[in-house]
Amino acid sequence: MSTILVTGGAGFIGSAVIRQLIAETDVTVINVDKLTYAGNLQSLISVADNPRYCFEHVDICDTATVANLFHKHQPDAVMHLAAESHVDRSITGPAAFIETNIIGTYTLLQAARKYWNELSTERKNTFRFHHISTDEVYGSLGEAGFFTENTAYQPNSPYSASKASSDHLVRAWYHTFGLPVVTTNCSNNYGPYHFPEKLIPLIILNACNGKPLPIYGKGDNIRDWLYVDDHARALRLVLERGRVGETYNIGGWNEKSNLEVVHAICTILDELRPQDAPYASLITYVPDRPGHDHRYAIDAGKVAHELGWKPLETFETGLRKTVNWYLTNPDWVDAVISGEYKNWIQQNYSDRGAS
Ligand code: NAD
Ligand code: DAU
Repeated sequence: MSTILVTGGAGFIGSAVIRQLIAETDVTVINVDKLTYAGNLQSLISVADNPRYCFEHVDICDTATVANLFHKHQPDAVMHLAAESHVDRSITGPAAFIETNIIGTYTLLQAARKYWNELSTERKNTFRFHHISTDEVYGSLGEAGFFTENTAYQPNSPYSASKASSDHLVRAWYHTFGLPVVTTNCSNNYGPYHFPEKLIPLIILNACNGKPLPIYGKGDNIRDWLYVDDHARALRLVLERGRVGETYNIGGWNEKSNLEVVHAICTILDELRPQDAPYASLITYVPDRPGHDHRYAIDAGKVAHELGWKPLETFETGLRKTVNWYLTNPDWVDAVISGEYKNWIQQNYSDRGAS
């Protein structure tokens, strides 16, 4: 039985990874999370009492505490997901992105390196540092072509620049210090427990509440959507079988314009929760995001051919599951929208240092 230290495990993707690891493997999971506005332990209620799950309320920028975590838990691997993740927030307030995504990754790499250097040869050989990153580091595509693992980095937002920077640090710690790393760059995820500042959950919840459905610019920007549990499966495969020092791109082969995505959500809601007017009548065009990347599309051939990964959900099945989840989980939704989940964390986790 092995131990994986997952950073950012209270977030959208990290919590999906942890729920899968606890349900489908025998590993012990140490969830290291600062619990920013995006971190929500209510997404982990199903695993909270499992003896193979442990929560550590820690900021990855805190050098001493991060070093102690390695000594205390003796992990066999790190899955590093902790990050500031929202592009719009990186435009209005980039500082937290520089702190967590760059300094935090550096802090974690240094702690992992020191710990790894002191392991036995056998454990040194099997240890992995898995850095979870984004396709946004590659910049923006025109109408044709795909991002491959060899595409040059051209990040355009403070968010993607901070993630690109962290990717470069991880690469350097491999080449210079020999730390056994793997990196994955994934396209847009969607699914349950997604914080409703991101397009898909925002549109579902605004529609249900009769609010405008904001479309940036003309709505013709294209994203490559992947169901979050498919991403989590890919991450587990790369961690188990990916080649050290390699990068794997992960994507859904599933390009949609934002307008197509919003219409697809409206159509499902028209069927599941019909109203007098179609939900699409709430669509409202708003000013564009500054520096808005036009198109992302991943060539996921390497992870498919080398590791045999392919997504299980189509966009149609995944989106329907997602809309259904938001309709049938009003407690999670209400707590997030009201901010009540922060009080819940205070009440339930104050003994573990959470506030
Ligand atoms: P999220 O914003 O939902 O979750 C981020 C988590 O990190 C939160 O739980 C937060 O509390 C935690 N965190 C933030 N700062 C921290 C710090 N200083 N110390 C410890 N914990 C901290 O993000 P997500 O959408 O789940 O994304 C997870 C990772 O995957 C990120 O690295 C992101 O760049 C990457 N990614 C996301 C997507 C996507 O579509 N969401 C796609 C590709 C890659
Ligand atoms: O590509 C991977 C990235 O996908 C991840 O690295 C990021 O962490 C994740 O947030 C996501 O970034 P995007 O900026 O693509 O996601 P977002 O949901 O914010 O926006 C998706 C598209 O929808 C984008 O073109 C902007 C547009 N949009 C977004 C919002 C919130 C709107 O038109 N209206 C909105 O209200």
